[in-house]
Amino acid sequence: MTLLRLAHLSDPHLTVPLDDVPASAWWNKRALSRLSWARGRRQLQQPELLAAALEDIRAHAPDHLAVTGDVTNFSLPEEFRAAARWFAELGAADRVSVIPGNHDALVPVPRAEGWAHWAPWMRGDGGEDLPWLRRRQGVALLGLSSAVPTAPGIAGGTLGSSQLGWLGQQLAALKTEGLFRIVLLHHPPADGVVSARKALTDRAAFRAVLREHGAELVLHGHSRDARFDPLPGPDGLIASFGLPSISAIPNPKDEGARWHLLEIARADVGWQVGVTVRAVDDSHRAFVNAARYTLNINS
Ligand SMILES: [Fe+2]
Repeated sequence: MTLLRLAHLSDPHLTVPLDDVPASAWWNKRALSRLSWARGRRQLQQPELLAAALEDIRAHAPDHLAVTGDVTNFSLPEEFRAAARWFAELGAADRVSVIPGNHDALVPVPRAEGWAHWAPWMRGDGGEDLPWLRRRQGVALLGLSSAVPTAPGIAGGTLGSSQLGWLGQQLAALKTEGLFRIVLLHHPPADGVVSARKALTDRAAFRAVLREHGAELVLHGHSRDARFDPLPGPDGLIASFGLPSISAIPNPKDEGARWHLLEIARADVGWQVGVTVRAVDDSHRAFVNAARYTLNINS
């Protein structure tokens, strides 16, 4: 019996008009990021493609959506407000779960001008801020933040020991509850997925928590290619899925937009997850089935 039909999408990099943004907003790391955006991403991130993705996701009527960060480009207050409007389009806050990415913490932003706008979608059932826990239909979603402001040229992330301690406790408790545990983080947890300047600094410590306490699935963004990385767990390997930007047309640096429909079900032993890969077609205007397979998870 299917417990939850979950849509996973990542790195939408919403674009907002930049003409009205005051010049002072660019006197920091944003300037470098804008330069790189103007050179490449501006042409590769397509609002029309994002709209087509939303239509495609709606047509599949998932129970829940998980957005694994990089919703903005420059962490501008205008972008945080636009992102909140976009989340509302995706669905009610109890059906849409969000974590931030490095672009959403490009520079320090006062909470009231930034993440506070996302609070309804980025908090747990108990009203807690990041890290948060949401229980939905036999599935536990654990939202982490690896988004911390870094030096210019650095796009890495860090979870930190207190968040990792929280994660270990939650994973152990949720295991005894018999829930299907999904960990959401923006940066890839496996080694060698991205360059050192873009990597999660404490990914080894994150993997050590998973190795000890287990999880049924890990979902992330940030990598510009789709990823499937097995991570060691206490009862075998844990599947870690990474998605490229949902608004990027295929190009030498980006595999191209895709999202996953994950249909989570209890099996006689363990769990089954039906994975449907929806990827942009050759017209760059619509999404088609790129793959369909089933994961058997015996934990
Ligand atoms: Fe990122």
